[in-house]
Amino acid sequence: MRASPISFARGAPAPELIPAAELAECAYAVALRDGATIFAYGPGGGYAPLREWVSARHGVEPARVVLTVGGLQGFAFYAAVQLLRLPGRVLVEAPSYDRPLKILAREGAEIVALRMDEEGLDPDALEAELRRTSERPSFLYTIPTFQNPSGRTLSAERRRRIVEIATAHGLAVLEDDPYGLVRYEGKAPPSLHELEGGELVTYTSSFSKTAAPGLRVGYFVLPRSTAGAFEERAVSTYISPPFLAQATISEFIARGHFEPNLERVCAELRARRDAMTAALEETFPEGSSWSRPEGGYFLWLELPEEVATAELIDRAEPEGVTFVRGEDFFPPGSGLGLTSARLAYSYENPERITEGIGRLAALLL
Ligand SMILES: Cc1ncc(COP(=O)(O)O)c(C=O)c1O
Repeated sequence: MRASPISFARGAPAPELIPAAELAECAYAVALRDGATIFAYGPGGGYAPLREWVSARHGVEPARVVLTVGGLQGFAFYAAVQLLRLPGRVLVEAPSYDRPLKILAREGAEIVALRMDEEGLDPDALEAELRRTSERPSFLYTIPTFQNPSGRTLSAERRRRIVEIATAHGLAVLEDDPYGLVRYEGKAPPSLHELEGGELVTYTSSFSKTAAPGLRVGYFVLPRSTAGAFEERAVSTYISPPFLAQATISEFIARGHFEPNLERVCAELRARRDAMTAALEETFPEGSSWSRPEGGYFLWLELPEEVATAELIDRAEPEGVTFVRGEDFFPPGSGLGLTSARLAYSYENPERITEGIGRLAALLL
């Protein structure tokens, strides 16, 4: 039987990173204790105790927190609400997470991709785009910490500048931060939300990377002016979310499992990141370069300029290694990312990572 491919494509936690037994106990306990509430319809904004926990962490009232069925569902709500209010351009980083790009295209937004580098989104590019025309963009979508796909983090100084620019132009910002807590070294910079105060910046995160993605629990911390319309989207889409999943997370936190689990996950991911960067260092040819994330799931690989990523993917497949083309993280037809790749190190163990990188390197000789 052929061994399963080594996947650097899956931006998902390996099964051993999911605290399945603890979550099962929490689910059983809450179902027995609160079943009559949990198995009924309820508030569209989510399970009250978890909503309160999120609101306390972010210093806002619970009415400004909406728990969603994963962060991505919430992105779709936010984009729909914001584009209805202010149709037109949505500013994104280049590269950016591919699923939101597809949602934006479906919503009819004009996607404007802004330059980024090792320090994250370039504030000069943002300012230039805002000055280019007097027409206000609908919003800026940014993933400032351990970005998907690049693994890059926006520096503290740039965060301040971006908040200044957004404030000066009255620009709504969606700060997507599912990886921020998955930090295994270095000091966390302040969030855009903290710096700005939450009037223009909406903050979103989820429990997909800190507990389990299959529970589908994400959350949004919204400006007062948007919270009602956002929650109304949730109600008109699914009436109320699956409370069992949200109550399970709430119980997981109440039992004191959240922090120790996060520490374990971070230690595992650090070993995987180290295995990947060491193998790249050892085996990859001159002319290649890659980001060095202090957390998260991904690194961004730039291949030597004569190597086309699409061709490498085709040759890697029979060798049993998969990853995602850089091109997929730019707006279609941009011609960018042709020699880049996103490598996820979250799904494979260190031994398989070393093996997989070695196989890719052999194709580049
Ligand atoms: C940047 C970013 N935002 C949002 C999500 C969506 O996560 P979920 O819907 O599981 O909360 C992901 C998932 O990989 C992501 O990378």
